[in-house]
Amino acid sequence: MTTTVQTDEQDLWRGFFADEDYVRMVGSILTSDRTTAEVDALGDLLGVRPGTRVLDLGCGQGRIAVPLARTGAVVTGWDGCEPLLDVATAAARGAGVEVEWVHADFVELAREAEFDAVCNVGTAFGYAAEPDDLATLAAVRRALRPGGVFVIDTENRERMLTSARRTWFERAGDLVCCARTFDAVTSRWTESLRWTASDGSARERSYSLRLYGATELVNLLRQVGFHGSITVSGGLDGSAYDVGSPRLVVRASVS
Ligand SMILES: C[S@@+](CC[C@H](N)C(=O)[O-])C[C@H]1O[C@@H](n2cnc3c(N)ncnc32)[C@H](O)[C@@H]1O
Repeated sequence: MTTTVQTDEQDLWRGFFADEDYVRMVGSILTSDRTTAEVDALGDLLGVRPGTRVLDLGCGQGRIAVPLARTGAVVTGWDGCEPLLDVATAAARGAGVEVEWVHADFVELAREAEFDAVCNVGTAFGYAAEPDDLATLAAVRRALRPGGVFVIDTENRERMLTSARRTWFERAGDLVCCARTFDAVTSRWTESLRWTASDGSARERSYSLRLYGATELVNLLRQVGFHGSITVSGGLDGSAYDVGSPRLVVRASVS
């Protein structure tokens, strides 16, 4: 039997990230301490100095882009979710920094040798169709200057596969019921979350993500022209990568 990915799976992320409860709920796990540590580590991995041109691809609500801009980097934040970019714009204004915000899909990236560094962090890769992922990596490569660096920080598929298929957790005071499926043929992970909104209404949102193994991701990066060093770690802190690592982090450089 052949398994095919339904088109709507590849669009679920649009509604998921645009949901009015998303920022509030995710804020309960993406604490300011965690963000500060991630921005510091990312700054080192990307080699960020004042004036460094950085593209934060999948910047969301500007959690990383705004503090990076505060270090003096010249930051472009790119995202396909307008409500999150509105939050990001307000955050930049509040922090007194300039960021170029672009509302567009990743596949629309068409910048040539413009950035010293590109990051895609906090699980911002794999939501779209698989050919788009490859096209996105190729566009990232073209957007980088010679010597440029790309860091991707995403889920560790091998660890995810050992997690419960049905579970519940608390997010910002709400009880969230979570049902997960993994398609071993397409390597697509889907989560459906159900919770009760503040007005008492029952809510449900899902997202679907193509999970890449470390070997696959490294091969794709080589394929699109990252001919410099490629390192794999289990977190932005540079810890060794293993099947149980909290994250999959790949740093790839243009030679
Ligand atoms: C989990 S959030 C991470 C946000 C941010 N990087 C962080 O760490 O806080 C993923 C973001 O990627 C964006 N995104 C995912 N796939 C995209 C695509 N194909 N085109 C544009 N944006 C996309 C979503 O809109 C969302 O804002």
